[in-house]
Amino acid sequence: MSAEVPDVYATRYGFTKEVAVTAAATLEEQGLEVEVKAARDVRSLDGFGAVLLGTPLHMGALHKDVRTHVERHQVALEQTPLALFALGPISAEEGVEGSRKQVDAALAKLPWLSPVATEVFVGAFDPAKLGFKDKMIAVLPASSLHGELAQDERDWEAIRAWAREAGQQIMNAPAQPLAIESAEQSKRQASGPASIGAASCPAE
Ligand SMILES: Cc1cc2nc3c(=O)[nH]c(=O)nc-3n(C[C@H](O)[C@H](O)[C@H](O)COP(=O)(O)O)c2cc1C
Repeated sequence: MSAEVPDVYATRYGFTKEVAVTAAATLEEQGLEVEVKAARDVRSLDGFGAVLLGTPLHMGALHKDVRTHVERHQVALEQTPLALFALGPISAEEGVEGSRKQVDAALAKLPWLSPVATEVFVGAFDPAKLGFKDKMIAVLPASSLHGELAQDERDWEAIRAWAREAGQQIMNAPAQPLAIESAEQSKRQASGPASIGAASCPAE
């Protein structure tokens, strides 16, 4: 089994990737070997003893690349200790409770996925970066993003503290052998629709 921990993330504007990179550095300080990877680039989770997974929340949902990732790697993730973090509200004032409920609702639809640690952090926002669809949402007066200025209240100390604790939890959690993933995945891929965008796993 590999000593390496994949730190898998998806992001729309880069904020979650930066958190994944910081979490990876924290885990490395604890002596773990961590590789930060975009979810869409992960081909296999065969042989890993633990996984870290990071997603932003957009319109109440986990990033679609993360949803695809967990579905594609269901067999491995059912057997591998997983720590999950999500980036949610764009300001600390908003509080993370609403975002936590969104994460809980998303996880309730994936009953086979049982992270040993789950956390929601305040994210960040930059109206200048928004893509067309998000701009259209942000201009709506009813949108919580309407009129918001660029802000970044990510709490790096809280992120590092959580990563330290999550690192302990995933490494101490019992892991099951993953050898059956390839066979199971091949079976599923052979009988189901073609997989989307599977590629090799370059380091980010
Ligand atoms: C269009 C849009 C919709 C969002 N919807 C939610 C949401 O439903 N819940 C939430 O907690 N945060 C929401 N956010 C805040 C993002 O999760 C936050 O900005 C995060 O840092 C984005 O990270 P990313 O750059 O990695 O995608 C939204 C942000 C945008 C721009």
